[in-house]
Parts: sequence; C-alpha cells; structure tokens
Amino acid sequence: TIVPVILAGGQGTRLWPMSRAARPKQFLSLDGAMSLFQQTLKRVADPARYGAPIVITHHDYRFLVAEQAQEIGINPAAILLEPMARNTAPAITAATLYAQKENPGAVLHILPSDHALATEPGYFAALETARRAAENGALVTFGVTPTAPETGYGYIEIGAERTKGVNDVARFVEKPDSETAQHMLDAGTYVWNSGMFVFEANTFLEEVAALAPEVLAGAKAAIAQGAVDLDFFRLDAKAFEAAPSISVDYAIFEKSSSVAVVPVSFDWSDLGSWDAVWKTGAQDAKGNVGAKNVLFSDSNGSLVLSEKAHVVLDGLDGVVLVASEDAIYAGRLDRAQNVGNIVKQLKSDA
Ligand code: GDD
Ligand code: MG
Repeated sequence: TIVPVILAGGQGTRLWPMSRAARPKQFLSLDGAMSLFQQTLKRVADPARYGAPIVITHHDYRFLVAEQAQEIGINPAAILLEPMARNTAPAITAATLYAQKENPGAVLHILPSDHALATEPGYFAALETARRAAENGALVTFGVTPTAPETGYGYIEIGAERTKGVNDVARFVEKPDSETAQHMLDAGTYVWNSGMFVFEANTFLEEVAALAPEVLAGAKAAIAQGAVDLDFFRLDAKAFEAAPSISVDYAIFEKSSSVAVVPVSFDWSDLGSWDAVWKTGAQDAKGNVGAKNVLFSDSNGSLVLSEKAHVVLDGLDGVVLVASEDAIYAGRLDRAQNVGNIVKQLKSDA
C-alpha cells in the first residue's frame, strides 16, 4: 500500500478574506460541504490502495486538523507539527523521514490539500502507473494539460516516453512569468505540475541529500529531537528553524534528474485563487456561482460568497464579491491573481 502524506500548512493568501492566517483555505468549505482538507483525507481513505495518512501542518492549525479529521471519522497515522513555516521542502522531507522510520521501503503519495480533483478511474490508473515508476527509482509527478498561461503553477516539458504512461522530464519551470507561460502554452509540449508526488522514501531522501543538504540536516534533527505530545508529533523548533525555507519544486524537482512525469487527463484544479473557485464551482445558466443567500439579478459570470449577510448583485458581470464576517473583497474576476499582493499591503490582523 501507499502511504499518503497530506500537506496542510500553507497560508493561501489569494483567497482572502475567506482564507485568513487563522483559517487558511485548506480548512474552508467553499461549497458548504467538506473542506478541501477533508476532501483530501477522503480521497485517500481507501484501504485497498492506501495506508493511514500522515498529515504535516503548522502548530497553529493542529486543532483544525484534528477536529476536521475526526468530524469525518478519519484517524491519521500521525499529525506532524511544524513550529514555524519553512515551506514544502523541509515539510515533505520531515514527513518522509517519519514515514521511513515506520516503514522503510514505503512508497509515498504527497498530496497538497488545496486541490479539487475527481477520483475517477483515470485517477487510479495514473496512481498505479506512478507507483510502479516510483518502485523503479523515479520521483513521479502528474502532468496536467494546461488550458491557460497560468503563472501560479510549475510547468514540465515532456520528454521521451520511458515506459508506458511515464515520460522523462525535459525541463521543469516553477512559476514562470506570463510571457514564458504563454510561450510554453503555445509550444504544446508542456504540462502543469499537479503538485502531487509519488516516490520511494529512499529515492527522495537521496535527492535531498544531494541537492539540498541543509534541508535534510534540519529535517533529520527536527524528527530525531521531536516529541510526541498527545495526538501530535512536534518537530524540534531549533532544529527545524535551521532548515532553509524553500519549496520542494525549487529545491528538488527543478534540479533532480530522477524526476518522471505521468501525463494525466483527470479533472484537477488548484483552488488557489477566486477565479479557480468560480471555474470549478456550480455555475448556474448565467455562469454565476453563489450560495442560497445570494441573489443574482441581471448579472453574469460572477462569484459571490458570503458567510452571513444576504447579498444582491445587480447588473454586474465578471465580478468577485467575498464577504466574511468582518471583511469584504470586491473585485474583477480577471484580477483574482492580484489578491495575494493586496493582502501583503493589509495590516497583519486583517
Ligand atoms: N506542512 C506544510 N508546511 N504545508 C505547506 C507549507 C508549509 O510550510 N507551505 C505550503 N504548504 C502546503 C499548502 O497548504 C498546499 O497544500 C501545498 O503545500 C502546496 O503549497 P502551495 O503554496 O499551494 O503551492 P503552489 O500551489 O503555489 O505551487 C505548487 O503547487 C502547484 C499546483 O497546485 C507547486 O508544486 C507548483 O509547481 C504546482 O503547479
Ligand atoms: Mg497550491
């Protein structure tokens, strides 16, 4: 079986004001049902394929993780707590070391918790292909056919086919500028990096040792000196702080020659910004997305989410209006990528 590792420590600033420091996007229910984190837990709650999940998150989110898992009756194998945010390379390395301790030859499936994804047959077929490639020493990522020149994703240039359904990576470009993104879209030979990875613990750790030794050293010491605390495992703060803050894409996947890509066709979206939430949301006949407390009048192609207040949108098209209990964002849907920059200008309590 595969050991799922769920990353649940990000901040998700582009979904402000729903996503806040105290409750980032992975813990939000955007459609009134399960949160994105819970949907991720459900996706791996399949004893035929997966073992119990390891969740790695920030100390501040420990109760959100524990409560949301309990709410849907899932008991993680472990909840690892990062004392401070160090981005995904140290987080994944620490979780991999933890998993390896319990289960030396383990194949891991790293899952971000901010994705909408359909677990159709194509998903399981791709996972099986990835598992086999991982057992042959590859660091596997899933390649999604791009539909727009997104600058928030990593791009992979597809290389030669290694085995059926598994390709070499000619090039990995993390978060390009918009000109480069457009060029890669036009070229037709690039796919989006899904941000999910499948690998054997040993393979990944060897690459971290070679490409990011300080990340490995910090994560290793943080696990070795870490401590069990009730339902949690706390990474040692001083050790973890010594690990450089860097994403796994920059630290490992852009550089490693062991990376392979499984091109996929299942429905996938990183719900990183409001335009993605609108695109994947339940649109009415006029392309509007909103819950029962929203009335659209002569409006088209808009997204309105409101925690409490009733909202009427009259005669506006292509608009995002998001109202939390104490903050409101109103903007154009085509400016959704800008929200992360705006949040940086806001005071820290917003
Ligand atoms: N535990 C932990 N600690 N989790 C983290 C941390 C951290 O410090 N930082 C981020 N995460 C979690 C987020 O909650 C999310 O689930 C996942 O790791 C990925 O982080 P994002 O911040 O959402 O990354 P991204 O979307 O900008 O970019 C990545 O994903 C894209 C696809 O969704 C990259 O892998 C891109 O190449 C990729 O295209
Ligand atoms: Mg993301």
